[in-house]
Amino acid sequence: MSHAEDHEGTRRDFLYYATAGAGAVTAGAAVWPLVNQMNPSADVQALASIMVDVSGIEPGTQLTVKWLGKPVFIRRRTQDEIDAARAVTADELPIDKMSQNRNNMELDASDENRTLDEAGEWLVMIGVCTHLGCVPIGDGAGDFGGWFCPCHGSHYDTSGRIRKGPAPENLWVPVAAFVDDSTIKLG
Ligand code: FES
Repeated sequence: MSHAEDHEGTRRDFLYYATAGAGAVTAGAAVWPLVNQMNPSADVQALASIMVDVSGIEPGTQLTVKWLGKPVFIRRRTQDEIDAARAVTADELPIDKMSQNRNNMELDASDENRTLDEAGEWLVMIGVCTHLGCVPIGDGAGDFGGWFCPCHGSHYDTSGRIRKGPAPENLWVPVAAFVDDSTIKLG
């Protein structure tokens, strides 16, 4: 083998390994969330709960935080939004009559069973459309004044319940609770 061929071979080897290395890193990153969910270790379990300061959220606005890789909508509803949600009982819902509330999955989808507080001012939901996973638009979007997923046209009401479109379930309510007047714990 000439010196030139030897050099070329070395360079090819280097390029090959560099590409393989980059591929391995990408694959590792993609697999990471699944591994976390299947085998939560102590540090991952610590991350499974986060505290969110909600003192700056005005009525009629929402905060979106990222939790466990997903957007979480924390909305402080107006009285009109609460009234609209509470005027529609679970029986009247056309698609999903269950709360989809991870705090208690047995409950029906009455608005009272989805909100964090009794008065219904605070609504916390995973911001992922239950059809194919897009992030719905909020702030009164859609035909029912709640959230709208433009991917395939799912309309959610002011309680995050699916009212029209292909989504099969109401937006999920995660395990959440107030730990003091201005702090919500997720997880
Ligand atoms: S992903 Fe939302 S309607 Fe299809």
